[in-house]
Amino acid sequence: MCGIVGYTGAKEAAPVLVAGLRRLEYRGYDSAGMAAVEAGSIELRKQAGRVQVLEELLRWDPVAATNGVGHTRWATHGRADDVNAHPHVGGREGRRSVAVVHNGVIENYAALRRELEAEGFAFRSQTDTEVVAHLMARELERGDEPLDALLRVLPRLEGTYGLAMVTADRPGELLGARLGSPLVVGVGEGEHFLASDPVAVAPYTANVAYLQDGEAVRVTPRDFEVRHRERGPIAPRIDRIDWKPDAVELGGHAHYMLKEIREQPDTATNACRGRLVRAEGSARLGGLNMTARQLRRVRRVVLAACGTSWHAALVGEYLIERLAHLPVEVEYAGEFRYRNGPLDDRTLVIVLSQSGETADTLGALRESRRRGHPTLAIVNTVGSTIAREADGGVYLHAGPEIGVASTKAFSAQVAVLALLALHLGRLRQLSFTEGAAVVDALGSAPALIGEALKAEPAVEAAADRIAQARSVLFLGRDLHYPVALEGALKLKEISYIHAEGYPTSEMKHGPIALIDPQTPSVFVAPRGPLHAKTLSNIEEVRARRGPIVSVGLADDEDLARLSDHVLPIPDAPEVIQPLLAVVPLQLLAYHVARIKGCDIDKPRNLAKSVTVE
Ligand code: F6R
Repeated sequence: MCGIVGYTGAKEAAPVLVAGLRRLEYRGYDSAGMAAVEAGSIELRKQAGRVQVLEELLRWDPVAATNGVGHTRWATHGRADDVNAHPHVGGREGRRSVAVVHNGVIENYAALRRELEAEGFAFRSQTDTEVVAHLMARELERGDEPLDALLRVLPRLEGTYGLAMVTADRPGELLGARLGSPLVVGVGEGEHFLASDPVAVAPYTANVAYLQDGEAVRVTPRDFEVRHRERGPIAPRIDRIDWKPDAVELGGHAHYMLKEIREQPDTATNACRGRLVRAEGSARLGGLNMTARQLRRVRRVVLAACGTSWHAALVGEYLIERLAHLPVEVEYAGEFRYRNGPLDDRTLVIVLSQSGETADTLGALRESRRRGHPTLAIVNTVGSTIAREADGGVYLHAGPEIGVASTKAFSAQVAVLALLALHLGRLRQLSFTEGAAVVDALGSAPALIGEALKAEPAVEAAADRIAQARSVLFLGRDLHYPVALEGALKLKEISYIHAEGYPTSEMKHGPIALIDPQTPSVFVAPRGPLHAKTLSNIEEVRARRGPIVSVGLADDEDLARLSDHVLPIPDAPEVIQPLLAVVPLQLLAYHVARIKGCDIDKPRNLAKSVTVE
């Protein structure tokens, strides 16, 4: 949430900052701004609106400096207007001593603001961030080194922050700090960067140093210095970004969401690469850091996540119960962290997060570990906070996901959960033959997902109808119930049409009251043991003149007879059906949003990576 980028080097900073902010815009897009030091004074450009608005502002009011920090905002405190846009400047009597950009929430900002106002600091905005700027300015008045000043400010701040700043007296020097909100240093030749996500610096360097919580950094064109607020100087570790910069380009697709939907055959391949062991009818997941003996002791699994990752976890519940006969509970991470649910030493806790930075999921991980439970994580973003703090886990290897509505990460999570279920099952009652069938099914998934993508023309026809609706029901049973929930979430997120997901069996217990000729129902209905029952439920909706869209097999004549539109998917073993069935639903949400003219990659009020509670 919120994008931060900083640059110091020989280039003009503004174009580098704007390009970086464009790459981070998916993290927040209420307003954008930058600050740089030019001839000893801080130049500020900021405005409500997209990064494009900032770019236009810079065109008629340029900044030539070779240093600066930029920000794209997702508002938490104060409306999304010009004044509340970052950076915020600190200083007495209108002097601009420092300019600060911030990602996170300063929870004690009201008390700090009162303290600073009593000392004569005048506030311009309603943001929590402005207190950081004035606290810095107050410390700088003592004439200390800026990094020392920052290290004195940090203990005053309660909450979370990724911070980047420039000070008027030190052109060419950037400062940064992190606590609960990511910040990386991009290490170049004669230039350095700061960013909330390596995506921003990928075109310039593959070398990054991830700051850890409690660390602050001073960055110059030549070098950078990291200090922990309690432990003093830190020798930074340089990691290499393992994806190519063009992984975050549109590559000819109209939107990132469409690109990422279409990447899903590769997503499944990458999630399973090197992890399927046909000779043992099992899966190899070395990163779990748990021996077979330890995994055999597990008697219960708790999966905690948010949003789409929570839906993937729900698929995981069905898969683990089915393949490993272990009881599974799926928790909203934001609930789990504050509930005092019983966990015994034979409970395995696993958190799931695409970004690895979601505040609620991180909170769940920390709470579980605080209680002494080894806690695993299924994460996409390498080097993210959750990945680093977990005791072990599995990376998704899905590559950067830029579309705010998550698509390929869901598929990768489902594939990894299938591998985990297989692995846990093979340590228990699952026979070699049954395990080998799951290995084969997962091996066939990429090609079958490719087939499912061919549903797009049928989806477009159905989308015309759904785009007229004010409310849509999504219904599925068994493994397809979470898929129905995910279909409903995708539609509401990007097209703003109200949508609810239910188990098909629940429909007659209430939601059927909604059925009328204006309220479509989307049934996830591939063939399976409960198919006949699903067909009966579709009949019930039809009897009430509800329009019906079904995801099912192309040769399913009964389904075709009952449905206004069938979105065809190929036949497949049950364990991988969710990977196929979700594809037409993602495409449906996409095309409905396109027809309605919505901003697909930047839906209103949302942002990627929810780093605040
Ligand atoms: C929905 C979506 C969100 C995220 C949720 C968790 O399209 O993207 O619901 O799934 O905010 O995010 P991660 O997986 O990054 O923890």
